Amino acid sequence: MDSPSGVIFGLLFAAGVAFYFRRRIGALSSLPPGPKKLPLVGNLFNLPSHSEWEIYAEWSKECNSDIIHLDAAGQSIVVLCSFEAAEDLLDKRSAIYSDRARLTMFNDLVLKDDFVFGFEKYGDKWRKQRRLFYQEFSPNAVHRYHHEELKAARTLLQRLLDAPHDFEKHLQHVTGALLLSVTYGIDVQASNDPYLQTAQMAVRAMSDAAMPGRYLVDLIPSLKYIPNWFPGVGFKRQAAEGNRLVKEMRDAPFAHTKEAAIQGTARSCFVTESMRDDTIEELDIKQAANAAYAGGTDTTTAMLIAFVRTMLEHPEVQKHAQKEIDSVVAPGQLPTLADENALPYVTAVIKETMRWWPIAPIGVPHFVATDDIYRSYHIPGGSIVIANLWAMLHNESDYPDPHLFNPERFILDGQINSNIKDPLSIVFGFGRRVCPGRHMAWDTLWIMMASVLAAVDMTKALDEDGRPIEPQSGLRSQLVCAPVPFECSITPRSKYIEEMLRSMSIWQD
Ligand code: HEM
Ligand SMILES: *[C@@H]1O[C@H](CO)[C@@H](O)[C@H](O)[C@H]1NC(C)=O
Repeated sequence: MDSPSGVIFGLLFAAGVAFYFRRRIGALSSLPPGPKKLPLVGNLFNLPSHSEWEIYAEWSKECNSDIIHLDAAGQSIVVLCSFEAAEDLLDKRSAIYSDRARLTMFNDLVLKDDFVFGFEKYGDKWRKQRRLFYQEFSPNAVHRYHHEELKAARTLLQRLLDAPHDFEKHLQHVTGALLLSVTYGIDVQASNDPYLQTAQMAVRAMSDAAMPGRYLVDLIPSLKYIPNWFPGVGFKRQAAEGNRLVKEMRDAPFAHTKEAAIQGTARSCFVTESMRDDTIEELDIKQAANAAYAGGTDTTTAMLIAFVRTMLEHPEVQKHAQKEIDSVVAPGQLPTLADENALPYVTAVIKETMRWWPIAPIGVPHFVATDDIYRSYHIPGGSIVIANLWAMLHNESDYPDPHLFNPERFILDGQINSNIKDPLSIVFGFGRRVCPGRHMAWDTLWIMMASVLAAVDMTKALDEDGRPIEPQSGLRSQLVCAPVPFECSITPRSKYIEEMLRSMSIWQD
């Protein structure tokens, strides 16, 4: 948050007065409960700036309500802390709850009226692109990507073998390269590839700006007119740089593929498949392709980093999963996606990792434009609606001892127990905005994690005296929450596996 100077504070006060009077008029039916509000500023000064999801969950417990209301100087925020409430509103009333908020920092300054699918208003343009997207990423379509996912997993193993300390860079690289390949048919091998670097920085800039409540300019939109030279307006420079990156991420790889298609050298991919249908406008293809690449890279990478982090803490789980793989996959072979049903424990480990370490703990906020009534509560039109996915994934009756990492909770009689609520029905969000990349995400995560388990041991790195280095706890608190950087020792499980990986030719087939 930018530091409030005197000028800013004055503006804040004026805005508060205006909102206060507006609020009085609409206050006839009761809002959902929430923490105590101050006059004018509401909850502005006790809005959490990190680990929002845990604090929302505490407030929800204190108020004894799974739906709570907050007020950020006039911006109404509704937080849904149970699966039931999220389903009732975001799913069953999706006709009005599928919108996204317009944040000044994000929409007016970073995107500047560019259309970015995942954050766009609910409407025809969004619907058209969502349909286009789904054609290429539906459960039936994603089989096409299995082969490339497998290749990505094996590239990962070879890179881990060559430079184990750089594991985070490798995870980022193989995930980015996979998505670039699937959407644009572009092959990248170098880890300093400019497309990947731009995308990484652009996604950072977007996910930072899209966090509600982080920038004062979101509460007082008129601040955006403050000239750039004014002290304390670093946010404007930051936004201009974000805008440049977002444009470049969207335009550069598309231009490359379009040129290749004209030359007749393009590989089959999301862009070329979509271009076959000449009723589809080019701009829609371009924006939908960008959504796949931008929405998929950081999320999948963060989940993989969280997986490694979790395996360091739970060597017994790692061993158990490795034993299961050894009993199913023949020596000298590595798992493929066809082994999923034969490896229920591995699947349980992946589900539990996604439950325990949700990398998008509040999903992407929705928005409701019109007034609504739910369980006798008034949901004011113009509210940001947040599904607290973290809280749902830590519900004690669905997941007893929710703070324990325990893959066994998903297993019954040696199989996945379908009576336990599937975290996959939560982590990807709700309603018409539910993550459209979720089928590909699952396949990618499964094959990457299963391959890593099959081939390497992950243990805590040792310091000079041979003592294990405890990884720091904590998150990079953004829309996508990876663990803070940590050290890790990654070694092949055996000489035999090492030789197999070194002699395996990935690019040949
Ligand atoms: C671990 C992996 C992933 C997680 C946890 C994740 C999670 C999410 C969540 C929570 C949302 C917001 C849903 C809502 O508004 O309720 C979302 C939206 C989205 N995701 Fe994912 N995602 C992942 C991977 C992917 C992948 C691989 C792709 C692309 C292939 C992708 C593309 C998108 C897009 C385009 C949206 C915007 C949808 C819209 O606004 O209509 N995601 N994702
Ligand atoms: C937890 O889940 C149970 C069953 O799914 C539900 O009845 C309950 O309301 C949830 N608790 C909270 C605090 O949301």
